[in-house]
Formats: sequence, C-alpha cells, structure tokens
Amino acid sequence: METPYTSSQTYIDEFDPVDYYRTYYHPEEGAMTGEWLHFALRNFHEIFTSGGVKGDLLIDFGAGPAIYQLLSACKNFNNIITSDFLEQNRIELQKWLRNDPDAFDWTPMVKFVCELEGNSDDESCKRRIEKIRRTVTKVLKCDALKKNPFDPVEMPQADCLISCLCLEAPCKDVESFTNALRNLKALIKPGGHIIIQSALNCSYYYIGKKRFSCLRITKEEMEASFKEAGFEILKVKIIACTENPKTDIYNQDSYYFVHARKPCS
Ligand SMILES: C[S@@+](CC[C@H](N)C(=O)[O-])C[C@H]1O[C@@H](n2cnc3c(N)ncnc32)[C@H](O)[C@@H]1O
Repeated sequence: METPYTSSQTYIDEFDPVDYYRTYYHPEEGAMTGEWLHFALRNFHEIFTSGGVKGDLLIDFGAGPAIYQLLSACKNFNNIITSDFLEQNRIELQKWLRNDPDAFDWTPMVKFVCELEGNSDDESCKRRIEKIRRTVTKVLKCDALKKNPFDPVEMPQADCLISCLCLEAPCKDVESFTNALRNLKALIKPGGHIIIQSALNCSYYYIGKKRFSCLRITKEEMEASFKEAGFEILKVKIIACTENPKTDIYNQDSYYFVHARKPCS
C-alpha cells in the first residue's frame, strides 16, 4: 500500500516523541535496539576512535528525541549543536540534557558504547553522560528543506555533521534528498566531514497507530545523491535488515552508513 507523503504540518501535529521512543528505543520493547543501534553505534565508535574525524564543532542534525548518536562523537569535539525540526523533540532533548527525572533512558546504549571502548563500569558510563551534557551547548530548530536549515540562525561552519534516520522523513523524492544534502553541505567547513546513517528501501514507519512516509531510496540513488551534491564519498557500509518486528511497523530491507567529505575547494 502506498503511504501518502507526510507533510511538515503532520509531523508537527502527530509525531509523539514518547510513542516514538517506546516503539523504537525503549530498553525492553523498542524495535530498533538490536540490529539498527548496534550497527549505528559500532560505526560511530569506529570512526570516532580512528582519530581522523575531530575538531571544534559537531552538528547533530535531526536528532529527534535521541542522544545515542553522540555517545562516541562527544569525545572528539569541543562543542556540539544538536537539533530537530520539532519542538516536542527538542523539549525531550533538553529534558535529558538537564537530567530531568522523566527524561528518556539511554543507559543501555551508553553501556554498549562504553563496552566497545573496554570500560563499561558505572563510573565510565556516568562520565560519558556528563561529557555529552557539558559538550552540547545548543538545541536548535532545523529544517532540511530550507536552503539555510537553521534560518534565521547564522551557524558557524562545522568540522563534522552527523545525522541518523532523518533525511528520508522530509524528502519527497531523490531530487529533494540531493537538495537537502546540498543544504547540509553549506553547514560544513571545506574539508569537513558528513556521516549519515539510515534505512534503505523503506517507504513507511509507524509511531503508535500513525503511519509516516519515508523516502524509499536505493543504495545506488543514495550514493549518486552524495556525489551530485558535491561530496566525496570515503566509505559506505550496508547491512541487511534481518530482524522482523512483531508487527509491520517499518519496511526497510537494509541500513546504510556513509562517511563523506566536503572538498577543500
Ligand atoms: C524517524 S525520526 C528519526 C529521529 C532520530 N534521528 C533517530 O535516530 O531516531 C525522523 C526525524 O526527522 C525529523 N524531521 C521531520 N521533518 C524534518 C525536516 N523538514 N527537517 C529536518 N528534520 C525533519 C523529525 O522531527 C524526526 O525527528
């Protein structure tokens, strides 16, 4: 069944961060805590411990209500600006950053990353959480469809931009995806990095009873978009999605990781 395009207004009205977290990231019930998170967290671990991607500013684009994507990255940057299109997601991010009692629990993901680094004792996990809370200096509104995604805020160019499971949400077609990548490119310093991890061949995902559309993009289209947007691709990884959720809450067949660079001139 074709899923009609989910408009920005529908995101504003119907994306519920509590349902989203419960459906995908809740430690017991979440449908994406296995294959997806292990893939994404391992890739971030590898790239941010290899030493080549570091600097002053990291932009975390379209974070939703999530912080898992910062667990390895936070060690390599002096300043992190995280962001999402939706106010309700930015509120959840702020709650976690303030350590509010009802903030979402990301402890299993913190433990997983600390284990990858070989220090999964409680003290190391606690220090990692504190490091993220200290390094994230802003939570901003972003819109991938705008030429300046942070308009009206003028952003300093970043050494690196990361984004997970985001661009396929607002982009209607491959052309719009390529344009969104061009918009992100302007936020990055010449020679700076972009790391995107997301789903391939996915046309919808559910949050509670609400079905959201997703850009059904193939590996070939995704790589061509990066090139057309003017990035130099350094590494691509794909894994098949073999985990079948109990219900048909999403329909991706694989996940991708792309590490690319904005050329120096
Ligand atoms: C599937 S969620 C992914 C959230 C999170 N990054 C994660 O890894 O779970 C899709 C995200 O796209 C965001 N989004 C929707 N429209 C957007 C737009 N025009 N620009 C940027 N992000 C948008 C939503 O707010 C939501 O956080």
